[in-house]
Amino acid sequence: MVKTSKFPADFLWGGAVAANQVEGAYLEDGKGLTTVDLLPTGEDRLKIMTGQVDHLEPQPETYYPSHEAIDFYHTYKEDIALFAEMGFKSFRLSIAWARIFPNGDDAVPNEAGLQFYDDVFDELLKHNIEPVVTTAHFDVPVNLVKKYGSWKSRELVTFYERYVRTIFERYKDKVKYWMTFNEINMLLHLPFVGAGLVFQPGEDKNQVLYQAAHHQLVASALAVKACHEIIPGANIGCMLAAGAVYPYRSHPDDVWKAMEKDRESFFFIDVQSHGEYPHYAKRFFKDNNIYIEMEKEDEEILKNNTVDYIGFSYYSSRCASTDEDILQKTGGNVFGSVKNPYLKTSEWGWTIDPKGLRITANQLYDRYQKPLFIVENGLGAVDNIPEGDMVDDDYRIDYLNQHFLEMAEAMEDGVDIIGYTSWGPIDLVSASTGEMRKRYGYIYVDRDNDGNGSLKRIKKKSFDWYKNVIRSNGASLEE
Ligand code: BG6
Repeated sequence: MVKTSKFPADFLWGGAVAANQVEGAYLEDGKGLTTVDLLPTGEDRLKIMTGQVDHLEPQPETYYPSHEAIDFYHTYKEDIALFAEMGFKSFRLSIAWARIFPNGDDAVPNEAGLQFYDDVFDELLKHNIEPVVTTAHFDVPVNLVKKYGSWKSRELVTFYERYVRTIFERYKDKVKYWMTFNEINMLLHLPFVGAGLVFQPGEDKNQVLYQAAHHQLVASALAVKACHEIIPGANIGCMLAAGAVYPYRSHPDDVWKAMEKDRESFFFIDVQSHGEYPHYAKRFFKDNNIYIEMEKEDEEILKNNTVDYIGFSYYSSRCASTDEDILQKTGGNVFGSVKNPYLKTSEWGWTIDPKGLRITANQLYDRYQKPLFIVENGLGAVDNIPEGDMVDDDYRIDYLNQHFLEMAEAMEDGVDIIGYTSWGPIDLVSASTGEMRKRYGYIYVDRDNDGNGSLKRIKKKSFDWYKNVIRSNGASLEE
C-alpha cells in the first residue's frame, strides 16, 4: 500500500446530497410537485420507480418521505455549520427544478426558489465550502410528465435549457462546479426516477428509453454549452452510476457479458465525453429495432459540447454471467448483478468492494482521460442510538477507510481524481427504498421510516474520524 498523504492540497473532500432527499418543504414558497414527491415508502415504490404509475397526484393516507425529508430547507444553516466543523472543502447538492420553474414550462422563474439557493450558496461560501451543483437529481416537475410525457418529448430539451440558463446566470459568481444529470444511466433501470417516464400499454420500452436518453444527452450538451458561455472558467461534468462489471467465470461468454453490461452504462458517458454515439450502439440499436429520432443539429451539439470532468458514484462492483445456475440475483441491486462469491454485502445486499473503486477509477480514466470526481460513495447501514447519544459506527469508518486507501492507490496509478464527496454526510431519505433507517451520515438525524422523530442532529463517531481525514489530508488513514 502507498502512503496515503498523497492527496493534493486542493483535493475537494466533502459530502453530497440531493434536494428531494433532504429539503422537505415540498410545496413551500411556490415549489411545484416533482416526480420524487410521488414515491411512497413500501412495496409500491419500486413499481412506480420503474415506470408503472397509476396516479400523478399524491394519494390520501399515503406517506411520502420527500415531503418533509430532514427539513434541510429550514435547517441548512445549522447543517452547513456542522459540515464546516468537519472541514468540508466542497458540498454537492442539487437544485430542485420545480423550485425554480414550478411547472417546468413557466415563462418566468420563481424568485423565492432562486433566493433559497442563493442563501444556501452564500452560507457555504461563508464557510469556504465550494458548492458542487447537480442540475437534475432524479426530479422532473410533474406538470411536464402530465403535459408532455416528460423526457419522451423533445420539448423537454427546451424547458431544461431555459432552466439551466436561468440558474447559470443567477449563480455564475457563486458556483464553479456543475453536473448535468445525476446517474444518467439510471434511466435504463428506474425510468420514472431517472427521466419521469411512465409506460403505456403496448409501448416499446427500449425505444422509449433510448429516445428519452437521446433527449437528455442533447440537453446535457446544451447545458455544457450554456455553462461555458455564461460562466467562463467553470467546470461542468456528467454523472455516472459506476461500478466495474466482472465476469463471474473466465468463460468467454461471461467475459463478453461483462463487457456488454459495462457498455450499457458507458454508452451515456461515451456520448457526453467523446461527443458522439459509440460504434457499438449502432449494432445494439439494429438488433433491438431502436430508431433514434434526431434533429439535424444534434450531432454537432453533441460533438462541440463535451464535459470537462467525469463525476461518478461508486457503491459496488458488479458481476455478470450467462450461466442460468448462477444467475441468482444480488438482493437490492437495480443493476441485476450476480452475487460475487468473494465479497461481502451490506445489510441491504449491496456488494462491498473497496478495490473495485480503484479498478473502476482506472477503467474510467483509461477510457476518457479526463479528471474524475467521486461524487458519491458510502455505506448505508442501520445505526443504533444507545444511551448518551453516541452512535458507534465503526463499520462505516472501516468501509470508508478501505475505500479511501484504494482511492489513494488509484491516484498513485496516475488517475487524476479531483475530489471525493461521500454520500449523505447527514442521514437522509434513501432513494431506492424511501427509508430513513438506511443511514449514510456522519450526522445522525432523529427521524424514522414513518416520519416520527424530533429531527435532532447528533454527531456519530465517524464525524470526528472524517474531520481528521480531511484535516490530515488522508495521512490519518489506517493502512
Ligand atoms: C445513488 C443516488 O443511486 O445512490 C442517490 O444518486 C442515492 O440519490 C444513493 O441515495 C444511495 O442509494 P440509496 O438507495 O441507499 O439511497
